[in-house]
Amino acid sequence: MSTDRNKILISPSIIASDLTTIGEQARQFDPAVIDLLHLDVMDGNFVPNLTFGPGFIQDLKKHTSIPLDVHLMIERPERSIEQYMKSEPWAITIHYESTRFPARILSEVHRAGITAGLSINPATPVEAVYDLLPYTDMVLIMSVDPGFYGQPFMDAAVGRIEKLSATIRERAGNPVRIQVDGGINKDNIARVVSAGASIIVVGNAAFKGGDINENLRELMASAIKHS
Ligand code: DX5
Ligand code: ZN
Repeated sequence: MSTDRNKILISPSIIASDLTTIGEQARQFDPAVIDLLHLDVMDGNFVPNLTFGPGFIQDLKKHTSIPLDVHLMIERPERSIEQYMKSEPWAITIHYESTRFPARILSEVHRAGITAGLSINPATPVEAVYDLLPYTDMVLIMSVDPGFYGQPFMDAAVGRIEKLSATIRERAGNPVRIQVDGGINKDNIARVVSAGASIIVVGNAAFKGGDINENLRELMASAIKHS
């Protein structure tokens, strides 16, 4: 994967696929067009849905060389973060709303050489992450309430990305990347990229209908068309 921090990366969310055959599907994923695999961990507590945990992620890793982008939608991630670090993903993102100790967890993840991500729900003011930027490699702006794929994009996310992007620019020497997740498709991807997001999660638009590799090629073309 490119280390250029400005390069646009697309991260398809596998919960929008048929998870019962994800090992076989992963072998068809083309690393030339799929930059990351977005893994939505849901605990039925922080969000009203359940997906998979660290054992599943370790097994999935055997089926693909594409770097893993782990999004933890779990209460109190400090209790299980080490289990997720063991699978050595490219990134682990925790939610601001899920813990009282975000700086400590982010520092632990970063020290292990893993991209330390901090996510905020649409109802959390974007300013909430400003004091945590020194501990953060990536901020994930949710553009839907987390818990399910296939929800409509919330337009307010665009202004939130612009505001955060301007704040990150003001703090020279702190190259925090912005990820966006929820309801992204070929019609809105260019808007979030122009606003300052460089890592784009896509669930429905990647897996529902057509071939995943072809869908990703089209999304990337739309992402860079107007940016
Ligand atoms: C929502 C998840 C997202 C979701 C994306 O809680 O974090 O990653 O699966 O799927 P779409 O793009 O369909 O909203
Ligand atoms: Zn996600």
